Amino acid sequence: MTDTELIRAAADAARHAYCPYSAFPVGAALLTRDGRVFTGVNVENASYGLTICAERNAVAAAVAAGVVEFTTIAIAADGAGAQAVPPCGACRQVLAEFAAPDLRIITASIHPVETTGAYLLKDLLPFAFSSTTLASKTKETLG
Ligand code: THU
Repeated sequence: MTDTELIRAAADAARHAYCPYSAFPVGAALLTRDGRVFTGVNVENASYGLTICAERNAVAAAVAAGVVEFTTIAIAADGAGAQAVPPCGACRQVLAEFAAPDLRIITASIHPVETTGAYLLKDLLPFAFSSTTLASKTKETLG
């Protein structure tokens, strides 16, 4: 699976985005360590705050299939003025739950389908809150 193919999968997925309120379709394609691809789109709601981003839906699809190890996520959306659309803070935290800190994040536009940026999760979310902080506490609590 090349980066170009992953970007294409994200852009294709974006066609199914449910975004009647923002009119801002986003598609995400998550590449697993064993070579599978799971896609997600943003799903909005009339109660705006219930909206779920494309990236988190891609993570949920992978986890539901029993996969929790990822190497790359491609995010496709048309940012204003052709700017790159980075993952929001909530999605960075959710990716950090499952991803190695060196998870690659590739951003792309949809019209045309083109790379707009490439990052590492650890650079976009330094000093992330993680389960290692909780682990000792959990052990203490459980005895
Ligand atoms: N959105 C995503 O799907 N991913 C992001 O990382 C940023 C924002 C969606 C949420 C909402 O449906 C629309 O983009 C506008 O914020």
